[in-house]
Amino acid sequence: MDLMKKALVVHQSKKGHTRKYGEEIGKILNENGLESRVVAAEEFNADLLQDVTHLFLGCWTSGLYLVLQHPDRVWIKFARNLIIPQGMKVGLFTTYKFATGSMFRAMKKHIPNAPEDSIPEWKSKNGLLSESDKEGIVTFIAG
Ligand SMILES: Cc1cc2nc3c(=O)[nH]c(=O)nc-3n(C[C@H](O)[C@H](O)[C@H](O)COP(=O)(O)O)c2cc1C
Repeated sequence: MDLMKKALVVHQSKKGHTRKYGEEIGKILNENGLESRVVAAEEFNADLLQDVTHLFLGCWTSGLYLVLQHPDRVWIKFARNLIIPQGMKVGLFTTYKFATGSMFRAMKKHIPNAPEDSIPEWKSKNGLLSESDKEGIVTFIAG
């Protein structure tokens, strides 16, 4: 029997777009049979990773709009303390206005033991999931 898949979605948001996107991700995960929980980075604790197979990490895009995108300090602090158990699948998401530029690279840089395998990325301007976002998530959780 397959092990029950379980997801945790952690978002860091200032104005609510990234929180909304995280909640939308949680919804599609639940609709596809994953028991999922959505929390803010500020309320994260390592116990929440118990039995989690798929971890989604999200942060709003900060930068100079055209260049130098990076996560917020709050997210960096959260990411630096994160210990990702071996074998856990990780995906990243962000919300932005014009361009995500270096955002995903910068996010990965702050995750100390990011998995070796490729990490999928999702981005949105309005906090809603596009059809291709949904397809990507369904493919990701099937693996
Ligand atoms: C200080 C600041 C810097 C920003 N820099 C960028 C940027 O470099 N590129 C971009 O596309 N959006 C940028 N934005 C827009 C935000 O990424 C966007 O509004 C995001 O959805 C906010 O997420 P939140 O509602 O979860 O806080 C910036 C916003 C702020 C307040």
